Amino acid sequence: MEIESVLITGANRGIGLEFVKQLVKLPRPPKYIFATYRDRNTIETLKQLRDDSKETIILLIKMDARNADQIESARRIIEDMVGEKGLNLLINNAGVLKRQGFPETTEENMLLHFETNTVGPVMIFKAMLPLLQKAATNGPAGMNVSKATVLNISSAGGSIKSQTSKGSVDSISYKTSKAALNMAMKVISLTIRDQGILVVNMCPGWVKTDLGSAAAQLEVSESVSAMMSTLSRLNESHHATFVDRNGETIPY
Ligand SMILES: NC(=O)c1ccc[n+]([C@@H]2O[C@H](COP(=O)([O-])OP(=O)(O)OC[C@H]3O[C@@H](n4cnc5c(N)ncnc54)[C@H](OP(=O)(O)O)[C@@H]3O)[C@@H](O)[C@H]2O)c1
Repeated sequence: MEIESVLITGANRGIGLEFVKQLVKLPRPPKYIFATYRDRNTIETLKQLRDDSKETIILLIKMDARNADQIESARRIIEDMVGEKGLNLLINNAGVLKRQGFPETTEENMLLHFETNTVGPVMIFKAMLPLLQKAATNGPAGMNVSKATVLNISSAGGSIKSQTSKGSVDSISYKTSKAALNMAMKVISLTIRDQGILVVNMCPGWVKTDLGSAAAQLEVSESVSAMMSTLSRLNESHHATFVDRNGETIPY
């Protein structure tokens, strides 16, 4: 897998940080990784990765997924670096989970999830679209991650068809926001289907991060290496799909 430029949101910890770690270790690592964070006090590991990186330029960019000005300034920074080559891969990873069931859930809790997990990824995609379009027009025909791809880190928790057990109904806002993310990305992928930009929604599994908790099944390295392997195999047939980390279909 060879990808020249990658933007990863929420890259200061958890799954996003692990993507940065594994991408720089590829036999042919990216030329640029744009790694976003919100708080300067949380980027020690990212800074270390940046300072140690020999082949990849890792640019740390402050960007809250709910802040239009910061998204626009990130776009400008990325555009200046990648120029006419455009942006090859956007990983919409940043996300939030603050568990509340029904009827305890508040409007504030629902809006926090919707703004962060649904509206943010759509607005970031919208801002990066011209850069993805540039990347999509370079090179041979066909869709793949080396060319132009948007990978949305979704959750099986957003699969309406899979919601059957009572035990999994404790986070109405999160699940709603991920189902909405899936729908938003489905609509976008159908809208831009002739532009050569591959759009995929992927669940990383239940992962030991702050969000997933220590009780989760997977180490973050396991989850991300499975997603990286799947990423390298993505093609046209995956456009507008919802898959797990191994590329198996998850019902919407
Ligand atoms: N872990 C799991 O089991 C699991 C399962 C299914 C799906 N996922 C999805 O995987 C993605 C990554 O989750 P994770 O497990 O790595 O969680 P995590 O360790 O809690 O990390 C979440 C990341 O998102 C960032 N973030 C939160 N709100 C943001 C905002 N408004 N703007 C920009 N960045 C924001 C955080 O930044 P700060 O440090 O500034 O808060 C952090 O970098 C999420 O989309 C999550 O829904 C995770």
